[in-house]
Amino acid sequence: MNAPIRVAVTGAAGNIGYAMLFRLASGDCYGKNQPIILQCLELTPGMKALEGVAMELQDSAFPLLHGIEITDDANVAFKGANQAFLVGSRPRTKDMNRADLITANGPIFVGQGKAIAANAASDVRVLVVGNPCNTNALIAMHAGKAVPRDRWHAMTRLDENRAKAQLAKKTGALPGEVTNMAIWGNHSDTMFPDFNNAKVGGASVPSVVDRAWLEGEFLKTVATRGKAIIEARGASSAASAAAAAIDHMATLWNGTAPGEISSMAVCSNGAYGVPEGLIFSFPVTASAGNWSVVEGLELDEFARARIAATTAELLSERETVKDLLA
Ligand code: NAD
Ligand code: LMR
Repeated sequence: MNAPIRVAVTGAAGNIGYAMLFRLASGDCYGKNQPIILQCLELTPGMKALEGVAMELQDSAFPLLHGIEITDDANVAFKGANQAFLVGSRPRTKDMNRADLITANGPIFVGQGKAIAANAASDVRVLVVGNPCNTNALIAMHAGKAVPRDRWHAMTRLDENRAKAQLAKKTGALPGEVTNMAIWGNHSDTMFPDFNNAKVGGASVPSVVDRAWLEGEFLKTVATRGKAIIEARGASSAASAAAAAIDHMATLWNGTAPGEISSMAVCSNGAYGVPEGLIFSFPVTASAGNWSVVEGLELDEFARARIAATTAELLSERETVKDLLA
């Protein structure tokens, strides 16, 4: 058994938090040899509900759960944290785009970025889930300057999983047979699910699926799935979002298998002409907590146009929050 790691989760009494904490505690993210101490953050009015969640975690008697701390103080929640899931923030409602949340949620990530820099362990890795997650991660990264830029991530793994599920349904394959399904850009309707470089059962996706469907219905379904779920459920995706957050951090922790590509929104170093410093979803490989952008992927005119559009959107979001970027 390894020494326990400290895992901070914000918005821990919310819908995603509730779906995520039990899977973290049961070893679904860091494996069955890795004990964890959960450090849960909520707003003060959410503390009573969080007490109840902590009681349920206790009652589950997870062997890997070596401690649960609950607090409304970010400095306490991030103390010594090795891993941090930044979920706490407002979800959108039916009539909103994710970007409409910038004003409500952006400021949260200034305080939390600072608290992470001041308190977290030197090996901390941060995943921002709260929307608009790319730009919130950008805000946190700027506020938490002392933490290296490659540690700040935003979540597009849910989009990757959605794309895999749609391709599996279309081709009759199992979701696990769809590989290298990378998302480029923003976690928003402008994202580009890169079907050109994806595979089904080892075959290139465009060689087995009609291109008009890929460029049309597939892309639209993946890009607007969050809204479709809000319309159907009356609330934003929660269990699938929690599963994707666990997938993202598990991939970062365990690494990608040889030849495997995953999607992570990370700080651009200028790869593929994406402006440096944007939090942008790239095809990546990962190993022991570190990632690298996959180089040399072919991008046709359609892909380049989509990537230009999602880049423009992220630049405009950055402009909107420029006062929050220290
Ligand atoms: P929710 O409203 O059920 O829960 C959010 C929780 O966060 C609440 O309990 C609230 O009290 C808490 N909170 C708010 N501000 C906080 C702060 N400053 N510090 C600590 N806690 C705080 O919402 P949810 O369904 O869990 O969704 C959370 C966020 O995740 C939303 O912004 C949603 O849009 C986003 N989301 C992102 C993805 C993605 O793929 N990136 C997917 C689904 C949802
Ligand atoms: C999702 O993709 O399900 C989330 O980002 C929630 C939303 O607002 O779409």
